[in-house]
Amino acid sequence: MSLVFYSNTDAPEPWREAIRAALPSLPFHVWPQTGDPAAVRYTLVWKPPAGWHGRFPHLQAILSLGAGVDAILADPQLPPGVPVLRLLDAGLSRQMAEYAAYGVLHFHRRMHEYALQQRERRWEPLAPTATGDFAVGVMGLGVLGGEAARHIAAMGYPVLGWSRTPKRIPGVKCYDADDLDRFLAHTAVLVNFLPLTQATTGMLDARLFAKLPQGACLVNLARGAHVVDADLVAALDSGQIGGALLDVFHDEPLSRDHPYWRHPRVIVTPHVAAVTLASEAAAQVIANLQRLERGEPPLGAVDRAAGY
Ligand code: NAP
Ligand code: GLV
Repeated sequence: MSLVFYSNTDAPEPWREAIRAALPSLPFHVWPQTGDPAAVRYTLVWKPPAGWHGRFPHLQAILSLGAGVDAILADPQLPPGVPVLRLLDAGLSRQMAEYAAYGVLHFHRRMHEYALQQRERRWEPLAPTATGDFAVGVMGLGVLGGEAARHIAAMGYPVLGWSRTPKRIPGVKCYDADDLDRFLAHTAVLVNFLPLTQATTGMLDARLFAKLPQGACLVNLARGAHVVDADLVAALDSGQIGGALLDVFHDEPLSRDHPYWRHPRVIVTPHVAAVTLASEAAAQVIANLQRLERGEPPLGAVDRAAGY
């Protein structure tokens, strides 16, 4: 039995080294090498092409190199019944919380507006907002969103959270799924941590933006397809949205002619809010492989019907 690694962005060497050290009898192939496809029991992947998994008839588990599994589940030919395992934190929570905190500070301290002033050599102090009056709305209170909400609350911001099922997080005012409008109405900066599913695709659209207070800002570090780009550009142009810090996009890399690149109220980063590091995540992947080898239930199995 063997494992095949597929990623265009993650270097295989540290994974090979860590997995070989822990599981020396498990051959580790890096795509396009696979050894005998019939011997492949596990894949360790980031954004494999559609249909790719179909070549391994005896697959026992698909292990994701990321927390989000939308690209894996989007494959209409994904072998049915094979568990898909995602990363649970594995070093990502801290990075996501840092990125979210950066975005909150940026917009709270009106850096998006001072950046515009600087372009025009304009010296114009703006009225500050007390930290305790600047509410941060966190969409998605799972592993990553929950940790970011706690982190931002510890910085002194009022934090509101919204999730599908009710949550209790100290220092966070949690709203249920059917309370989205009240959550939005009180949010000064919206930070998106939702998984990309059928229910959440295109959620960040003109209707939702209109429910935020005028000038509210957006930090999107989840997935690009949560956003209707044309609606966001229109909301930025009208001032309904004051600024956006965007890490993720419909198509990555972002095409050179996309309006986000040049929009004065948008900051673009190249999907780096939280990067999987083998030094932090390999232990979790190895623990899952060992559980699978012992016939124990693995951790981080996603609900394929729910999409996360
Ligand atoms: P998670 O633990 O599965 O948490 C997802 C949260 O979203 C849960 O609170 C869930 O609600 C909520 N949710 C799901 N569907 C919903 C809906 N229809 N309405 C309301 N709430 C809904 O996921 P995670 O580990 O925190 O990861 C979140 C996402 O971050 C990933 O899916 C990935 O797309 C993104 N990500 C981005 C980067 C980056 O570098 N930019 C890095 C890592 C991850 P329940 O709690 O009720 O289930
Ligand atoms: C990165 O985007 C991840 O899902 O881990």
